[in-house]
Parts: sequence; C-alpha cells; structure tokens
Amino acid sequence: MYITNMDMKLTWICYIWIMIATVPCFIGAFQCNNVEIVSRAEWNASEPKGTTNFTGNKPYATIHHTAMARCFDLAACKRQIKVIQDFHQNNRSWWDIGYNFLIGEDGRVYEGRGWYSKGAHAGLPFNNLAYGISIMGNFMTFLPDKKALDAFKNLVQCGIDNGRIQSNYSLIGHRQANEPGYTVCPGTALYCHVQTWEHFERYQQDGTFDNATCANIPTGSANHKTYSIYLLLSGLFAHILQTTLTDFL
Ligand SMILES: *[C@@H]1O[C@H](CO)[C@@H](O)[C@H](O)[C@H]1NC(C)=O
Ligand SMILES: *[C@@H]1O[C@H](CO)[C@@H](O)[C@H](O)[C@H]1NC(C)=O
Ligand SMILES: *[C@@H]1O[C@H](CO)[C@@H](O)[C@H](O)[C@H]1NC(C)=O
Ligand SMILES: *[C@@H]1O[C@H](CO)[C@@H](O)[C@H](O)[C@H]1NC(C)=O
Ligand SMILES: *[C@@H]1O[C@H](CO)[C@@H](O)[C@H](O)[C@H]1NC(C)=O
Repeated sequence: MYITNMDMKLTWICYIWIMIATVPCFIGAFQCNNVEIVSRAEWNASEPKGTTNFTGNKPYATIHHTAMARCFDLAACKRQIKVIQDFHQNNRSWWDIGYNFLIGEDGRVYEGRGWYSKGAHAGLPFNNLAYGISIMGNFMTFLPDKKALDAFKNLVQCGIDNGRIQSNYSLIGHRQANEPGYTVCPGTALYCHVQTWEHFERYQQDGTFDNATCANIPTGSANHKTYSIYLLLSGLFAHILQTTLTDFL
C-alpha cells in the first residue's frame, strides 16, 4: 500500500481538527450542547452583594416557576430577569437573584447565580444539594412551551457532562423542598408534568408525597398567541369592571 500526498493531507487535516476540538477540554470550558446560555453580562446583571462558593457534584435539581411574566424573546426575557433580580435584591434583600438559572420560552437559559455559587431558592437542605432552575412564567394551569421544557433537560444534561450534577440525580419541585403547603411552586400543571420525567423523586419532607393532586390537571401549553389574547381579554374585563364599579360607587 502506498501513502499518497492525498492521504498525508487528510492525516494533517485530522490532526489539526483533533487539536482544535480538544482545546475546550484543556481550558476547562463548559461544553453545553443544544443549550444557549445568556450570561449575566449579556442581561446586564447587577453585581451580587455576596456569594457562597458551590462546589462538587450535586445530587439534586429543583424546578421552579417565577410566578411572574412569561417571555418569548431575548429582549423581553432580559428585561424580565432584571425585574426578578431587582425584586430579589431590593424587596427580598437577598444577595442576588435567587435561582442558579432561569429559562425563557424562547428556549434560552439565563445565568442566575450560575454553576459556582449557591442559590437561595428552596428550603433546607436543598440550597446546599441542588441547582435551582426556574422557568419564567406562572404554570399553575398550563405548561411552558416545549422549547423551555427541552432547555431545562439540556441544561441538566450539561451539568452532568461537566461534573456539576450527578448522573443519578433526583429532580424535585420546589414545593417538595419545603414543608407541605409552603408554596405551590413550580405551578401545579408543571409540577404534575415533571412527575413523568425519569429522574423525578416522589419525595416529601414529612413522608406524605401527595400524588392525588395530579389526577385532573391540564397537560397543554398555552401558546404565545392564545396567551396574549387571554391577557388582552382579562385586561379589558378588569378595565370594564373597574370603570363600571367606579361609576356605580
Ligand atoms: C444596567 O443595569 C443598571 C443597574 O440596574 C442600570 O442602571 C442600567 O441602566 C442598565 N443598563 C442598560 C443598558 O440597561
Ligand atoms: C471561592 O471561589 C473563588 C474562585 O473560585 C476563590 O477565589 C475563593 O477563595 C473561594 N472562597 C472560599 C471561601 O472557598
Ligand atoms: C419592591 O420595592 C419597590 C421599592 O420599594 C416597590 O416600589 C415595589 O412595589 C416592590 N415590589 C413588590 C412586588 O413588592
Ligand atoms: C449516585 O452516585 C454517587 C456516586 O457518583 C453515589 O455516591 C450516590 O450514592 C448515588 N446516589 C444514589 C441516590 O444512587
Ligand atoms: C401514589 O403513589 C404510590 C407510590 O408511588 C402508589 O402506590 C399509589 O398507588 C399512588 N396513588 C395514586 C392515587 O396514584
């Protein structure tokens, strides 16, 4: 067998390709496939007032909703996350936005406290054991869109691939990370949906995991258009009600 010039060229191309492809391993960069993470700098985060280092491989992820506005594009999600950070820092007097990550229905992940600082999102001991990941919106009666649900799964996979989350991790809803009745987070529709996911743990602090809640819950996602019409109509209704009442009183 002869080694031709063409073979040599291909060999060199292969060497160079391997060198380029392995650079991220040496600089220790996070490799997140299928997930776009918008950094704090990109959403113009305020400085944290303090941080606690968060090290090791975590055995839990908690899912949250923000119970505030939904967002469907980069500009709106950046504005919304800023509102949440201001609320957590100024009204709640926390060091920083509570969650490690937030997710928009644009399918992007927004960096909160990130991979390396401990969050403030759940009851003890879960802030120490879990990454707190919150989907922006209120998901009591409908689900976030598929983009957001996929982003959640891809982010957790990224944490596993990079040694931040144990591959045998458990997923719980925020309401499981506090005493029963403390919060309805991550919203009943979303909470029931994630119970079908592989890593969901049927855990409750006092041992009374409530699986009756999910017998009759909606399983659909309210799309952007339907949701806008709903907001418009409910706004209109509230306005009519208010003016009628004002005239009446
Ligand atoms: C960035 O955030 C700071 C602090 O909240 C604010 O004063 C400033 O106007 C923001 N800048 C932009 C470009 O939004
Ligand atoms: C936290 O991490 C930073 C950088 O990763 C390091 O400089 C600092 O010493 C750490 N602090 C503690 C208390 O371990
Ligand atoms: C947060 O604090 C600001 C300033 O004190 C206040 O105007 C605003 O209403 C508060 N927001 C909430 C949701 O309580
Ligand atoms: C998960 O794996 C780790 C080792 O990577 C092990 O220490 C831990 O006990 C396992 N947890 C469960 C719940 O299986
Ligand atoms: C609740 O979960 C337990 C254990 O996972 C199961 O044995 C029981 O049948 C469930 N009850 C309902 C109403 O689904």
